[in-house]
This record gives sequence, structure tokens and C-alpha cells, in this order.
Amino acid sequence: MTGDGYVGAVDQGTTGTRFIVFDHDGSVVSSAYERHEQRYPEAGWVEHDPVEIWENTKTVITRALGRADVGPERLEAIGVTNQRETTVLWDAESGTPIYDAIVWQDRRTTDRIETLERNGSTETIREKTGLEPDAYFSATKAEWLLEEADPIKMERARPADVRDRAKAGEILFGTIDSWLIYNLTGEHVTDVTNASRTMLYNVHDLEWDDDLLAEFSIPEAILPDVRPSSDEATYGTTDPDGFLGAEVPVSGALGDQQAALFGQTCFDPGDAKNTYGTGSFFLMNTGEEAVESDHGLLTTIGYQRSGEDVQYALEGSIFATGAAIEWLEDVSLIDDPAETAELARSVDSTDGVYVVPAFTGLGAPHWDQRARGTIVGMTRGTRREHVVRATLESIAYQTRDVAEAMEADSGIEMTSLKVDGGAVKNNFLCQLQSDVIGSRIVRPVVDETTALGAAYAAGLAVGYWADLEALCSNWRVDREFEPEMDEAVADERHERWIQAVERSRDWARD
Ligand code: G3P
Repeated sequence: MTGDGYVGAVDQGTTGTRFIVFDHDGSVVSSAYERHEQRYPEAGWVEHDPVEIWENTKTVITRALGRADVGPERLEAIGVTNQRETTVLWDAESGTPIYDAIVWQDRRTTDRIETLERNGSTETIREKTGLEPDAYFSATKAEWLLEEADPIKMERARPADVRDRAKAGEILFGTIDSWLIYNLTGEHVTDVTNASRTMLYNVHDLEWDDDLLAEFSIPEAILPDVRPSSDEATYGTTDPDGFLGAEVPVSGALGDQQAALFGQTCFDPGDAKNTYGTGSFFLMNTGEEAVESDHGLLTTIGYQRSGEDVQYALEGSIFATGAAIEWLEDVSLIDDPAETAELARSVDSTDGVYVVPAFTGLGAPHWDQRARGTIVGMTRGTRREHVVRATLESIAYQTRDVAEAMEADSGIEMTSLKVDGGAVKNNFLCQLQSDVIGSRIVRPVVDETTALGAAYAAGLAVGYWADLEALCSNWRVDREFEPEMDEAVADERHERWIQAVERSRDWARD
């Protein structure tokens, strides 16, 4: 352990950006948060303004440090974690994005994926990247930005010769980690976990894949350098003359779901966590083995420390969980997400109602780009309480679908699951989750495990924490939830859920 400093982490998520200052115990010293605008320019399209995200990042760093009265020189390292797959292209010289960021939820390249299916290229993509070909990943988003971005729809002028400039390395590609690190330190880098979500990176050879670059017409010159998630060499330092006013190493980066795995100290094969954010992402550490899924899960990179082998994970990506609660608010069924527990508790069941929040298609384990949100089973007696409860239940059922796939792929029976993310403050949801999957749910004291994981990666790299054992000793249980529902009832309701999922499938048409 070094001096009396702190480690900070930027957690750049789908709906907002947080900066958290952590101490040696892994406790939160202070934090600040800013939401950013969600842009839906066409049905199925989702965009963010990368400049707004960078401005918010500076704001939350400054505000969190100010709140704790911590001078920037007392930060020993900064880690970055981010919404994954969201794609930015920017001008290397001016640092200006050529278009808005295309967000992971965006469906504009659905047709392109279907072309790949028709051409029979999907199996090769699965083998090389561990991913289920889908518009979710960065490859088709970057291809669209290079080929199709319509200058009229763009708020910023698109350079006329984007493709030529890209070939010359004058346009740069990055996921949000790269975009933020570029702005923080001037280096064009990414970490292995983020690279593994682009559908351009070979997760076995650990390099950008020439065949995939050719398939999506991506010039190699636009790609960032791929580094370990916890990097002793660092991704550069902040500029002492910049907004922060100090030279701080940026030495850790992971996609947010991998960061949560790291923050939950899931360091051994078989360790698993589920994070409840905009979507839910269930990851299980599989160690040095890249386990191939037969049940609709993704093979992804969990993390890598400097000089060590890559650790793999199996992932179940569920696209809409917290987003379903936000939708309840948007359509005025609730005023505040905090109300959902009380409303759901006020009825014994959903009275046969099932909500399938397939707003942007279905992810794991169903994978249906054209599925759409569906409510089934309503009667004249259906009240908003039933719909609210059915929405909460959809979160638990989607997790069960993934948990079953995870058990089938890994052969490991899950007896307990670590959870984190905003929604786990909701005790009703945690109990429901335990009932629906029939396993113990374990909630840690620090539920900001995403930021914590990025801080851990950054801090390990600079020796702020000595080793993984030091991190494990920081991990403490807040509360455990044991299954209370009769197993047969849970199974029967889950079976009806699967029928509701079938109704939502293959709905969207061009
Ligand atoms: O893969 C998308 C995921 O990284 C988004 O996470 O927490 O921003 O919803 P979150």
C-alpha cells in the first residue's frame, strides 16, 4: 500500500456518468453524477453526444473531488469503465466526433446482420469473437458510420472524404473507454474487455482480426492499441495544465460489466455476478478457458492484468431491465422507480399478466433482433399494480433464462449469486429474484461495484493495492436473500413467461 491517497473511477453508463473516489478499504469517499441526453432520431436508433459525455465527465470528476475536499494530486490513479459497444468515430487532429455515438441499444444495422446470416458468415464470427452476431456490437455501427452516415442528419459537418481519411489514420475509432482516455491523456487505446465487444477482435489470438476488418471494411489505422485492463505501463497521464490540474496516471479500464465482475472480486472460475442497470448482465468467470456456449451465451474477456494471461467469462446480456422501469415512468404508470416495490407488493400476483420488455430486441439467451415489447394476459380487471409487478418479474425471469443457460454451459449448479447495480437497493426485487431462480442472492455493502472494479484495476497497476487478496478482504456482505417461493409455483410461472417471450418474437418489420 502506498501513501494516504485515493483512487478515482469514471463510470460512464448508458444514462449517465459517475465519478467515485475510493479509499484503501474500497469504501466510497465521495461521488458525483450527471445524466446525458438520449437521442432517438428514428425508430430503433439510439444516439449519445460524445462531447456532452466528455463535458459531463470533467464536471463529475471536479464535483466529486470538491465534495470530499480531495485535491487532484491526492489521486494515485484513475480507472475508466464504460457502457460497452457504443461506438464513436472522431477526427484525430481536432478531436471532434464525426457523428453522434451509436449506442449499444441501436438497431439500425439489423439488416446488415441478416445479410451476414444469409451469406453464411455468422459461424466464423462466433468462432473468432465468441459473440452472437447482432447489431448490438460495434462492428456494424463503425461500418455504418464510415459508409452511410447521412451528412444531412449530422449536426456536425461530416468530412467529405471520411473513408480516405480513415485509411490514413486521420479518423479514429473507439468505444467510450477509448474516447474518454483519448480526452484524458491523448493516447488512443482500449482494453481487452472492450475490444472483445467490438466483433472485430479475435478473443483466442488476442488481436484485431484481419478477416473481420475486411468483412466490415474497417481500416486498421483507425483502431486503438489493445492493452491489459490493469496496465502497469498506464494509458498515459492527465495533463497538469488541463481541467484536472494534476498529472494522474490512467491505469485501469474495463467494460462496465467486466468491471462489476472485478469489483465483486469474482476472481475464481465459477464465480458469478449479475448487474442490474439499464439492462442486466450476468457474467461467470471461466478462468483461462474461453468456454464456448451451446445455450445462447457469449464468450467474452473478463479481465487481464499486466504480464498475466487473459481471464475469460461467459456472459448473458439482457437488454432491458432498468430500462423497463424507466419505461413505466415514461408512460406515467409510476412517478418514481422507488414506488415499484410497494405497488408490486400491494397485489399477490400479476393476475396472469406478463410484460416482455423487448424494446430493442431480445439478447441472451433468445437472440431475436426483431422481437419487440409485449404485454400479454390483460383482462378488464388488470390494474397498474399488476403491470408494475409484471415488469419487475420480467427482470427476474430474464435473469432465470440466463442462469439456466449458464448452468447448462458450465455444468456448475448455481447456489448463490452476487448482485449489484442501482436496482438491487429494491429488497422486493432481490427477494423476487431469489424466489424465481431458487438460489441465494448476495448483495455487497458497496453496490457501486462497476466503478469499484475500475478503481481496483487502476489501483493494482500503480501498487495502491498489493494484490487480489487485498481486494477480496475489502468485500463485505450487506444482505442475503433466500428463496421463499414454492419451487413448483416458480417453475409454472416461468413456463408461462417463456410462452409470453414467444409472443414477442419476430415482430418488427422494416
Ligand atoms: O453492453 C452494454 C452495457 O455495457 C451497458 O451497461 O450499465 O450502461 O446499462 P449499462
